[in-house]
Amino acid sequence: MSPDLPPMDTATALALLAWQVEMGADEPILDAPVDRYEAVAPVAPAAAAVAAGDPAPVVVAPAADPVVAAEGLAARADTLAALADLQAGFEQCDLKKGARNFVFADGRADARVMVIGEAPGRDEDLEGRPFVGRAGQLLDRMFAAIGLSRTADTAEKGLYITNVLPWRPPGNRDPDPAEIAMMLPFLARHVELAAPDLVVLMGNTPCAAALGQRGILRMRGRWVEAFGRPALPMTHPAYLLRNPAAKREAWADLLSIRRRLEAAP
Ligand code: URA
Repeated sequence: MSPDLPPMDTATALALLAWQVEMGADEPILDAPVDRYEAVAPVAPAAAAVAAGDPAPVVVAPAADPVVAAEGLAARADTLAALADLQAGFEQCDLKKGARNFVFADGRADARVMVIGEAPGRDEDLEGRPFVGRAGQLLDRMFAAIGLSRTADTAEKGLYITNVLPWRPPGNRDPDPAEIAMMLPFLARHVELAAPDLVVLMGNTPCAAALGQRGILRMRGRWVEAFGRPALPMTHPAYLLRNPAAKREAWADLLSIRRRLEAAP
């Protein structure tokens, strides 16, 4: 605590802590608080050189619009590894500041089916892999039921998994439209480089990103096109955990995926 502040009584400290938890601060990230309003923007090297009287070196200014910046970076990636590096280095998404890990993808990149989820949660943020918590375990069981797995030893039986956002939103809040928009160029390039036969859009956020639409309960089970490929919106496994009765429809959707794969081997 700052030496300028009077000592705080226990009841006030507990009330403040409860308020922070309610606001979504459900775990500590650093040992000491950071006042981001006080953070001073670093002087760009070119500006510093000019101020010192040196001739200005030629620098490429980062695009002010985060979507334009993301498009530029994503277009430079020729491989998935390069895309992961470029996206991990993207500084214009504030979620990066609060996340422990960058969560890019898991499974077989050569799989015929690519699943796109929403964003890492607490477990994914800790582990740096998508869908490893309870919802992820259900997702694994769902796809195992149609013979697909992220640990399969062939591409034919493989599954490739990513999210719209690679950083955990604080308190697992819904991603906001600006965050989705700036991650979309990376996601589009991700799908292009992985080149799956089919895409599964798990829940509202990937539908908003890929199709510009929400309303997963209305959209699920109907094949559409996303990123130039056949895509099936499905209800998110976290929703299925809360609404077990919806598993019946999810099973119908899984069978629909299996039929598609068998129809075009
Ligand atoms: N939910 C998601 O959408 N993605 C994850 O990685 C985990 C939970």
